[in-house]
Amino acid sequence: MKLYAIGDLHLSYEYNRKALEELAPHPEDGLILCGDVGESADHLELAFRAAKRNFRQVWWCPGNHELYTLGSSPRPHLRGEAKYARCVEIAREHGVLTPEDDFVVWDGEVIVCPVFTLYDYSFRPPDVAREDALKWAEERDTVATDEFLLHPDPHPSRDEWCRVLVRRFEEKIEEARKAHPGLRTVIANHWPLREDLVFIPRVPRFSLWCGTTLTKDWHTRFDAKVVVSGHLHVPRTDWKAGVRFEECSLGYPKQWQDVRTTGKDINGLLREILPGPPPPPGGEAEMKWRRWG
Ligand SMILES: [Fe+2]
Ligand SMILES: [Fe+2]
Repeated sequence: MKLYAIGDLHLSYEYNRKALEELAPHPEDGLILCGDVGESADHLELAFRAAKRNFRQVWWCPGNHELYTLGSSPRPHLRGEAKYARCVEIAREHGVLTPEDDFVVWDGEVIVCPVFTLYDYSFRPPDVAREDALKWAEERDTVATDEFLLHPDPHPSRDEWCRVLVRRFEEKIEEARKAHPGLRTVIANHWPLREDLVFIPRVPRFSLWCGTTLTKDWHTRFDAKVVVSGHLHVPRTDWKAGVRFEECSLGYPKQWQDVRTTGKDINGLLREILPGPPPPPGGEAEMKWRRWG
């Protein structure tokens, strides 16, 4: 029994939809889809159908793309929490577990906690004030599409929605740990939990839309065995305090299609979350790029 993860399938691209069709059967295994499956109900349906056809258990957490409100989508144009709720409904129709479902135990060993935390613009230098953060990013021509398409309704702002989500999922993970004493967790989120895991040299100021400092100690506080994320499209593995961090994005076609030259397909890019390797001596290891699987 293995637990795998992949993020950022971005199924608006035909190339990625074709790749998804190549997913191989893993009848004993589990799969975490950690966000940015796509923007529409159709994208979610495609991903959930393929994942459930091939895996025994499937989890999903939302990315920013799932939360986009597009003029091209069928009416009514759902915004913010309503769009998220619709995604959860679709997942449940397919038997896929979401952050809104009970956190369940996998293989008698870990509690799998898919969460949803968003961002609050706190991944910025200490001398940049919150109210100047967007201007700071704009100075380098960086503005996330989220500013136009990801609405926080009914919350007054994306920061406020983020704070509400962080509080909710802190409580939910605590409750799950009380219900399953002694078990470690696997925390799966679209956004990285820590700022020091964000490395995006081409658009460094995009960090504003990459997470919140409120989650920086979750890996130790909630005794995580592995923390899974996507969003950055920079696949890598890190170790911190004996906890493995897996950034497991697939990404846009141009970012991964050359992997095929090595003979790999989407199956070679599924990240093994469990059992995975043993922790390195001292619990820390050098970061490892995982672009090639
Ligand atoms: Fe993405
Ligand atoms: Fe994303």
